[in-house]
Amino acid sequence: MYEGKRTVSIWSDLGFQESPYATRPVPPTEEGESLFVGRDGVAKRLANRLTSSDLHPTIEGENGVGKTSLVSVVGYRLRREFEQKSTSQAIIPLDEIFQLTVGDSAATLERKALLAVANSMIKHHDLLKRGGHDVPDVVDLQKWINAPLIKGGGAGASVAGFGGSASRSVSVNTGAGFNEAGLRDTVFGWLRQCFPSSQSGAFVGVIDNLELLETSKEARALLESMRDGILSSPGLKWVLCGARGIVRTSASSPRLEGRLAEPLELSPIEDAEISQVIARRLELYQIIDSAVAPVDPESFKLIYDVLNKNLRNALKYSEDFSFWLHDGGYASADPVANRQHFERWIRGQAARNAEETNLSGNRAWEVFDSLTGIGGSCSPGDYETFGFNSAQAMVPHIKSLEDVNLIQSTASDSDRRRKTILVTPRGWLVRYARSDYSIPE
Ligand SMILES: Nc1ncnc2c1ncn2[C@@H]1O[C@H](COP(=O)(O)OP(=O)(O)OP(=O)(O)O)[C@@H](O)[C@H]1O
Ligand SMILES: [Mg+2]
Repeated sequence: MYEGKRTVSIWSDLGFQESPYATRPVPPTEEGESLFVGRDGVAKRLANRLTSSDLHPTIEGENGVGKTSLVSVVGYRLRREFEQKSTSQAIIPLDEIFQLTVGDSAATLERKALLAVANSMIKHHDLLKRGGHDVPDVVDLQKWINAPLIKGGGAGASVAGFGGSASRSVSVNTGAGFNEAGLRDTVFGWLRQCFPSSQSGAFVGVIDNLELLETSKEARALLESMRDGILSSPGLKWVLCGARGIVRTSASSPRLEGRLAEPLELSPIEDAEISQVIARRLELYQIIDSAVAPVDPESFKLIYDVLNKNLRNALKYSEDFSFWLHDGGYASADPVANRQHFERWIRGQAARNAEETNLSGNRAWEVFDSLTGIGGSCSPGDYETFGFNSAQAMVPHIKSLEDVNLIQSTASDSDRRRKTILVTPRGWLVRYARSDYSIPE
């Protein structure tokens, strides 16, 4: 016989249902709604753009600041308003989130997007019908999705026929001339029928992490090639998200003006609100009354500040610490003890990273200290700020800092204003050690 229950995870051991420090985006659910902190102003602005403009909204903000979460929760709220009949405008987020990486084509994205729209029409068929929308028949939609041309992702699909002459091939198609343009026409037609005016609503898709395209030139070219496709469909809105200025610089193309809205800038969650992020998670996930969090809301503020207010990184370090605390058997029922462990642990991490940084050359350190001093990111065009005469003169120092993983810089962008140089989480820990374990204002 087993003595007691076997533990499933370190979290249940610690008294929680799951990790309170998970780094996934806030989900588009009621639970997500209860975990979502702050952002009142920008959430309202995003919702207004989705309900009251034909332009596609865009969001610009550092990695891990909360872009995907914001879109997720705002989309959820708008859908719920329609479900609860507080509005006749049906704003319905697609389930899938789309990303583009180097080498992707607009055609591949379009195919996936059209399929997601058809799936969403099936999923929300009854809801839309109830709201008075002219949505296609589910059976037709399903037939369309299951047609080999859609499923197989290629033209000329055919299958061998059974019975009769074994050599005969039976072509499976849903109609003559059902090519790529045919797919688009069909789905756009359904969308027009379902959402005859922008006031009647739209499906909302997200094209996330545009910075994966590395250069704004690449991003702009791809967006331009989508302009007359999925960026021009009735009843389909896209929220474009990206970091380090890629949205701003790629959306400023004359061909995209009039399609994309001015970017909403997302800044880090306010100091006064940050402890709520953890407090709400602890409350939601706690399964034992006496559970004591490895990193409580108060402690979380410290790591958030050390890591320059990067929410995703602060969560990740909190989880790392939880493992250390649990594995070492140091988890205490006394919150103060855990807090002291946490402070020592962060110092230890910072000291170790600083010791392991073998950077020769005072000038590189000077660049690093100035860079952290101005917020941790800059563009190659900012060389004067660091006392150089040209961008070229700054390059070797940037390179040395990158070699020791204190900063990260992306492929050189033709747009010199883009902030492609930024301090890594490791860099922020080293800065903490260099400033004698204090957070300079
Ligand atoms: N308003 C919020 N309230 C509570 N938690 C949040 C909020 N915004 C973001 N988070 C949490 O912060 C982390 C990062 O959020 P998210 O993934 O949305 O950021 P992002 O800007 O999309 O990042 P990336 O650029 O890496 O895609 C997630 O764990 C998410 O749950
Ligand atoms: Mg994201």
